[in-house]
This record gives sequence, structure tokens and C-alpha cells, in this order.
Amino acid sequence: MNSFGTLFKITSFGESHGNVIGIIIDGCPAGLKIEKDFIQSELNKRKPGQSEISTSRAEEDEVQIISGVYNGYSTGAPICLIIENKDKDSSKYEFVRRIPRPSHADYPAMQRFDKWVDLRGGGRFSGRNTAGFVMAGSIAKLLLKKLNIKIGAYTRKIYNIEDPNTYTVDVINENIEKNSVRTVNLEIAKKMEQVIMKVKLEKDSVGGIITCIAEGIPPGIGEPIFNSLESNLAAAMFSIPAIKGIEFGIGFKASEMKGSQHNDPYEIEPKTKKIITKTNNSGGIIGGISNGMPILFNVVVKPTSSIGLEQDSVDLEKFENTKINIIGRHDPCIVPRTVPIVEAMTAIVLVDFLMLKVLIPPVLKDDE
Ligand SMILES: Cc1cc2nc3c(=O)[nH]c(=O)nc-3n(C[C@H](O)[C@H](O)[C@H](O)COP(=O)(O)O)c2cc1C
Repeated sequence: MNSFGTLFKITSFGESHGNVIGIIIDGCPAGLKIEKDFIQSELNKRKPGQSEISTSRAEEDEVQIISGVYNGYSTGAPICLIIENKDKDSSKYEFVRRIPRPSHADYPAMQRFDKWVDLRGGGRFSGRNTAGFVMAGSIAKLLLKKLNIKIGAYTRKIYNIEDPNTYTVDVINENIEKNSVRTVNLEIAKKMEQVIMKVKLEKDSVGGIITCIAEGIPPGIGEPIFNSLESNLAAAMFSIPAIKGIEFGIGFKASEMKGSQHNDPYEIEPKTKKIITKTNNSGGIIGGISNGMPILFNVVVKPTSSIGLEQDSVDLEKFENTKINIIGRHDPCIVPRTVPIVEAMTAIVLVDFLMLKVLIPPVLKDDE
């Protein structure tokens, strides 16, 4: 289950404390100019140690292009991208085999893979694997750029501090790199930062909500029934560790609305003569297929499970209840680092569906 996608297919590999973390992209069209600096700038948004609210693990996360690129362009062969793991201290993770961390993957992983599982730094369950998602996502974003499709995600909520507004992708992208929580409103950003710093001092953690918007998707992209646009976006989001929920458009608030309030009435836009809807409660997807409005969804990120406070667990060797004190480096809030990962997985899903509709052909025309 390490591969995802139909035509634009990604395969994730590596462990948190192994030699490398990587991704193979099979199905990238030939003739795409691969901008290494762009891949690196996307990776830098996800990497640890960006600010005081992030883990102190010091990693350069420098992308290496292993295959599938010749003279700066994709060849149509599998593209393999990796980063090395350098700053690893596995000594702090031996205890989790005996005393599993509450709400981390240690216990279920040992039930699934027995003693063979690699739990160093979280192994395959570590958020570090998402560096591969971001590398593949940056290739997908380069393809989307050709169709003028733009994606922007931002932090909507941290714990009890929320920005209820929804923004355009341009406004999101103009603002989120100006503050360490990757939100749009700078005043709200300060309050969010304070909440995270407070919880860090308390040796605890918090989660939040990320909003993602994709603009420029033509109507008619997606499939009905099983691998619908909604299903695959949801599957992509749930492949990101710590994401616990997703809602499209108005989401769960639909339960409090009447049909007359929830329906998105159609109209012809006077200037462009395009068919649009007056509201976007559906989040741009109906029947598993895009309707031409911006795709809009929220995801919930849980509070980081590794906290400094003492917690209850069990000693699996002695088979008795015990206490656990987790040592190691952890983000008190992983929401800001998850923002670029949400964008990346969205881009990957969209490219896959656009290729199915042959809006992105297998060989591109000359890039220049
Ligand atoms: C970028 C990123 C960084 C993460 N860092 C940590 C961390 O430092 N400590 C931790 O306990 N969980 C961290 N996680 C979350 C765990 O990997 C995740 O909670 C765990 O694998 C269990 O999976 P689940 O929460 O999806 O059920 C991180 C997740 C992401 C996306």
C-alpha cells in the first residue's frame, strides 16, 4: 500500500532513521522542465527546525534527483527523488517496543509487523515520510502551472483560535510565508503562535484545521462512484500522518441547513459567460466530479501525540500498567508544517485526474 494514483502514480519509500526518504513518480509526462530550486523551496516549507514552534531536529532536506530527468527535463521514465536522513538519534526509541506511546503507531504497528517493524523515529509512520509527498507534489504543481491551476492551503484554526474567513489562492500565497503558523491574517497568526508557545511550555501539544483551495479546475474532472474526486482527495489526505478528518465545502454544517440554503444555484457569469454557482457549499465537487468552482476542503490535524507530560501506558514485557515519559524532539503543533503537505497531495490527485481526461498529455510540447 505504498503506491497511490492511476496514471500519475507515486511510490513512497524510506524510514525516519533509515538512510533516505524518497518518492518514485511513475507516469510524469515527458518534456516537463524540472526546476530543482522549486522542489527545494517546497521542501524547505515542510522541513523541521524552521522556527521556535517546530522540532529541533536539524535536517538540510536537500533534494537529490536520482532518475527520470535528462538535460533538466523529464524523460517519461520513473522520476526518483530522495533526501538523506542525517540528524538521527535512535537510542531514544528502543523503549517504545516495550512501552508504546499513546496515540502514536507503535502498538498497532507491532501487532501488524511483529518484531520486524522499524520504529526508530517513527519509522514508516513518521511525518518525515511526507517529504516524499512534497517532492512529488512539486512536480505535480509544475504540471498544474501549465493549465493555470493554482493551489493554496492555510492554517484556519489552532486549538481555540480560528480565522473563519476563506481567501483566494493569491491572497493565501501572498501571506502565509510571512508568519510561522502559515495563516493569512497576521494578527490571528500572533495569537496562534502564543497558544503554541504556551502549550510547548506546558509540555503538551495542540492541533488545528487546514483549509485548502484549488482554483482553475475545469468542470468535468473526476469520476463517479469509487475513485471519485472526493474519495481520492480524502484518501490522499488520510495518507498524511495525524490527519483525522476532512469536509468538503460547507461540510458538516450541512446538517444544520435546509436544501434551499445548501443548494448552489447556477448562473451565467456576465463577463466570462461561464457557468458558475452563486455559492460554493459543495466545495467544487458534485457527484465525484468537478463543477468548475474552486475545490475547497478543510482537514483536521490532531494534537501531536508525543508530549512531554507523563502518560499512562502498558509494559508489554511485564504485562502490567505503567507510566511513560517520552523523550525526543517533537513539534508542539504540526499544523504549520502540514500545510505544504496538504497542497502537495492535492496537486498529485488533480494531476492524476487531469491525465485521465487527457488534459495533460503523456508527452508535452516544447517547454520554451
Ligand atoms: C510533518 C509531520 C510531523 C510529525 N511529527 C510528529 C512528532 O514529532 N511527534 C509525533 O508524535 N507525531 C508526529 N507526527 C504525527 C505522527 O506521525 C502520527 O500521529 C502517527 O504516525 C500516527 O498516525 P495517525 O495520527 O495518522 O493515526 C507528525 C506528522 C506530520 C505530518
